[in-house]
Amino acid sequence: ISLKSFNTFGIDVIAKHFVSVRSLDELRAVLKLDQYQNKFILGGGSNLLLTKPVDALVIHINIKGKTILSKKNDTVLIEAQAGENWHEFVLWTLTHDFGGLENMSLIPGNVGTAPIQNIGAYGVELKDYFSSCQALNLNTLKVETFTKDSCNFGYRNSVFKREAKGRYIIISVVFKLTTAQHLLQKNYGAITSQLDTMGVTSPTIQTISQAVIAIRESKLPNPKEIGNSGSFFKNPVILLSEFKTLQHNFPNIPSYPVSETEVKIPAGWLIETAGFKGKTFNNYGVHKNQALVLVNYGGANGKDILALSQLIQKTIYRIFNISIEAEVNIL
Ligand code: EPU
Repeated sequence: ISLKSFNTFGIDVIAKHFVSVRSLDELRAVLKLDQYQNKFILGGGSNLLLTKPVDALVIHINIKGKTILSKKNDTVLIEAQAGENWHEFVLWTLTHDFGGLENMSLIPGNVGTAPIQNIGAYGVELKDYFSSCQALNLNTLKVETFTKDSCNFGYRNSVFKREAKGRYIIISVVFKLTTAQHLLQKNYGAITSQLDTMGVTSPTIQTISQAVIAIRESKLPNPKEIGNSGSFFKNPVILLSEFKTLQHNFPNIPSYPVSETEVKIPAGWLIETAGFKGKTFNNYGVHKNQALVLVNYGGANGKDILALSQLIQKTIYRIFNISIEAEVNIL
């Protein structure tokens, strides 16, 4: 089977075997099949660059469902199953007037893969509204609960990318959302001006979501039209002393404070300044509105996109002496 419609980059590679599971029991049963030596877990396929045929049993996690677990004071606990589409889930919370996830509207992918890289956008990260998650231990086939602390969340990072990498499948996630006194995060640059454009004077979680959707649609390519995986690279964190040195040669270099001694540099700026923004090679390239996004214009090969990403990394290192790391998982 072709995995083309199962990865947002739209890369056409063949998986030797494929199964879609709709429940925990089905998942356990498939994992017990010992005729397949290699198994590959596939969620929303939104953070993945496929560079070769997959010689494994691909297990597509398609477990659905959303439940309101409890309401207390001004908060609510909601459990969503791993196979729920992230954006549809966010919209569902907003129709119930549950607050917290609105700044993360329109992020591609599924609920179950969101904690792995602690997705985030416009000043909010998943960890801010995460309560716990249930994950299947691949060795014991038992379900374990990960609290927020045990997930060890960082910038686009968690225990599932580090110590526990490859050892668990997230089955469901519990979010702690607000039912009143929503904490509106609206000061993140573009949101304020977008709300102005929309004529919104007293923002709500719903109008903030609409603003985020409008901003994302204007800058980021829709994976249904142009294959992509969102930001291909992480924004690098460098020492303040290194930043000061760079400022001599690049007085306009933007930065966000991280700590007393470190700053984060937008990789999109580095890539644009290196001249890659909008560059097209055959059927793939660097997006014209956001240099952090690599795109497949149709029929591109994962290996070519990988080679482009490596060329970008080398060039950035040569010009700025900064290593940028891929955010996307490369297979
Ligand atoms: N910039 C450029 N040229 C570009 C793109 C960006 O110069 O082509 C500079 C500008 O200075 C701009 C700054 O980068 O002000 C920041 O750009 P933007 O607000 O678009 O955010 P980002 O740092 O490029 C991050 C996340 C996005 C998230 C946005 C908004 C990472 C790796 N990316 O991008 O997340 O949507 O902030 O919060 O942290 C994703 O992870 O897939 C993703 C899309």
